Amino acid sequence: MDVRAGIIVLFCLMGFTCAEPVKFLDCGSTTGKVVTVDIAPCPNQPCELHKGVSYGVNVTFNSDVLSQTSTALVHGIIAGVPVPFPIPIEDGCKSGIVCPIQQQHKYNYVNLLPVKTQYPSIKLVVEWELRDDNNKDLFCIRFPVKIVS
Ligand SMILES: *[C@@H]1O[C@H](CO)[C@@H](O)[C@H](O)[C@H]1NC(C)=O
Repeated sequence: MDVRAGIIVLFCLMGFTCAEPVKFLDCGSTTGKVVTVDIAPCPNQPCELHKGVSYGVNVTFNSDVLSQTSTALVHGIIAGVPVPFPIPIEDGCKSGIVCPIQQQHKYNYVNLLPVKTQYPSIKLVVEWELRDDNNKDLFCIRFPVKIVS
């Protein structure tokens, strides 16, 4: 963890409000319904993501299905082209969700979005999907971000 990430975490541990509900687009959630999307920290929208910092992502959603598994898939959409955006933990069942996922149940999917130092300073749209046993989207969300140094 670098100094800036450390400071942000410390700031959050001191009890400041770091999570901000962000405006998002639903890109085809079929077996679930998104309630809120929180990015921490994101004081202004679109969220400014600093290189070398990991951001907290917290998606609150309701599930319409029973699913043993859940797998996250993240893309950065740059000029209309989806590019894979690697995240450390793809298993949704290890990201704040107790599996099996129950029908008509509310969940908080909590994960980190690491912004690598070698990423370019650009605006892009993050697309985050969580897929169920049948490869259908429990949620699919899109939100704009700006990568800054
Ligand atoms: C995620 O968001 C929900 C709803 O805003 C909140 O109740 C929950 O505490 C958050 N979880 C984490 C780990 O931030």
